[in-house]
Amino acid sequence: MSDLEREVRAALASVEDPELHRPITDLGMVADVHAGRRGRVRVDIALTTSGCPMRERLRADVEAAARSVSGVRDVAVEFSTMSARQRAELGDRLRTESGKVRGALSIGSPAIYAVASGKGGVGKSTVTANLAVALARAGNKVGVLDADVWGPSMPLLFGTSRAPVVLGGAMMPVEAHGVRLMSTGFFVEGTQPLVWRGPMLHKAIQQFLDDVHWGDPDVLLVDLPPGTGDVSLSLLELVPDARVIVVTTPQTAARQVAERAGRMAADLGIAVAGVVENMSGFACDCGRHAPIFGSGGGDSLAEALGVPLLGRVPLDERLRESADAGVPVMASHPGTVSAVALRDVALSLPLSRPRRSLAGMSLPLSPV
Ligand SMILES: Nc1ncnc2c1ncn2[C@@H]1O[C@H](COP(=O)(O)OP(=O)(O)O)[C@@H](O)[C@H]1O
Ligand SMILES: [Mg+2]
Repeated sequence: MSDLEREVRAALASVEDPELHRPITDLGMVADVHAGRRGRVRVDIALTTSGCPMRERLRADVEAAARSVSGVRDVAVEFSTMSARQRAELGDRLRTESGKVRGALSIGSPAIYAVASGKGGVGKSTVTANLAVALARAGNKVGVLDADVWGPSMPLLFGTSRAPVVLGGAMMPVEAHGVRLMSTGFFVEGTQPLVWRGPMLHKAIQQFLDDVHWGDPDVLLVDLPPGTGDVSLSLLELVPDARVIVVTTPQTAARQVAERAGRMAADLGIAVAGVVENMSGFACDCGRHAPIFGSGGGDSLAEALGVPLLGRVPLDERLRESADAGVPVMASHPGTVSAVALRDVALSLPLSRPRRSLAGMSLPLSPV
């Protein structure tokens, strides 16, 4: 290897794979560096998958890093694809190194918040998506697991629907608006129905926790299906140190069914972090608030569950428009009333794991 080749390789250590968040030199993606005459350099990058969605971004980053080396005049980036064996090896490595959110929980594992509601349509997914973007914007590494297997909405809310990259046994989350997403919605096309049978569900949730390379997130938000069904039970069993956030509207009827979701968590010994009241009043530009869905639901639910009311999110046309356009309002209009309310909730969430529930888990620790 010539000196120039060595220097270019060293410079490429500053390039991260956009999805794996590791230097490409660590991931075995720099297949070859060849320095020709007059400062011409050719870099061969082995992609994890031929349809790599990040190809152009990688090309630009590799080019810029190589050009930063003095003596380099011209850079050609070529792409090849890893062999099945290389992919499997990389997947195994990633799986053992990090990414597990349950199992051998260790210091540095994420805080997990499961967002629940009594019924659909109260804005549970909207709340989840916007809390995630707010936490990411505050500098946290954030994952969202869309566990609403019958009505996955994260692909729509984040405006992304491409299939996740799978490396050996590890699935890479899809990144959008700074958040790492995993959803059953990524594995089906359009409005194809999702048919799940009981045992498959538990397995799917388990896989999402174990086999997704979450990459050491600070916080993982889980969008639970509405109600108190099997998926919620599976998830809360698998991650007993999750904390539940219950979303309700101010309406008495919604608040009553939401209470069941809160009680389910309590029965399983899961902590309820608090209640978010969504659609509380219509905020119009005239400064008036109209209580379209009534009022008081959040307060009375929080009181019934003995937990804090984390915030009230007003009905906001901008939020709905952004959601329909596939951009969380936290990213498109961070200053609008609903986004401000949601950010306050996000920033009030503790990001350390509760110690209390760790005691109940079998940790592979021995006294020293
Ligand atoms: N605060 C709000 N203001 C305006 N529209 C909202 C608000 N919260 C949710 N929505 C809209 O209500 C609908 C249902 O929200 P969604 O998050 O999908 O509910 P859930 O996940 O509980 O079924 C969506 O169209 C969403 O854009
Ligand atoms: Mg939903």
